[in-house]
Amino acid sequence: MIPVLTIDGPSGVGKGTVANIVANQLKWHLLDSGAIYRAFALAASKRNIHLDNTKELLDLASNLNLRFESDPANNGLDVYLDNTEVSSELRTEKTAELASNFAMIGALRESLLIRQQQFRKLPGLVADGRDMGTVVFKDAPYKVFLTANAEERAKRRLKQLHERGIAGNISHTLEEVKNRDERDASRKHSPLRPSEEALIIDTSDLTVNEVVTRVMALVKV
Ligand code: DC
Repeated sequence: MIPVLTIDGPSGVGKGTVANIVANQLKWHLLDSGAIYRAFALAASKRNIHLDNTKELLDLASNLNLRFESDPANNGLDVYLDNTEVSSELRTEKTAELASNFAMIGALRESLLIRQQQFRKLPGLVADGRDMGTVVFKDAPYKVFLTANAEERAKRRLKQLHERGIAGNISHTLEEVKNRDERDASRKHSPLRPSEEALIIDTSDLTVNEVVTRVMALVKV
């Protein structure tokens, strides 16, 4: 049984940062499932495939030429779509918004399931996203759900954007964060919610190190 630690939560909560550090400490593999949804959304928009064209979307999902390469400097992973590095393009709010819209389609989620489960390799996997603990790795022995108030998450998101040289302002970012969460939490298929077994950590007043310490305390290896 290959162990999995799932880290779910809303946007801007710091899942990616925590997942990256914990995966390094444990020397486990890392899955940034949001990057799969973002890359898919980017590929679909480049090909002008519309949200309601299920057949073409599913064709694209099964042929998506997507590759991750580990890069500790870039929050863990560099992403290649059709052999072109798209890591920065993936991180924009525009791509996130698109991803959140495509992520509502149940058949599409279904077809991206195995691609995500294939990351489960020895000695273990840290997987971050929205439905890691509830759907993709339902049997994971370790589950965490991170929360933080929307203002704090908007601040973190903005800081991250600025660090990457992407412009943005707080009120706009707050609105985007709230809209995206509402869409992710209210959708029919695999909505954002904590698994019953998940340890819920409110990170609003915690440092990254404090969150990492709590998550590491859960995992016994
Ligand atoms: O984690 P992120 O911000 O990179 O995710 C971008 C969008 O992708 C998110 O708003 C909803 C979707 N997503 C999802 O539906 N399920 C996941 N496991 C991960 C992301």
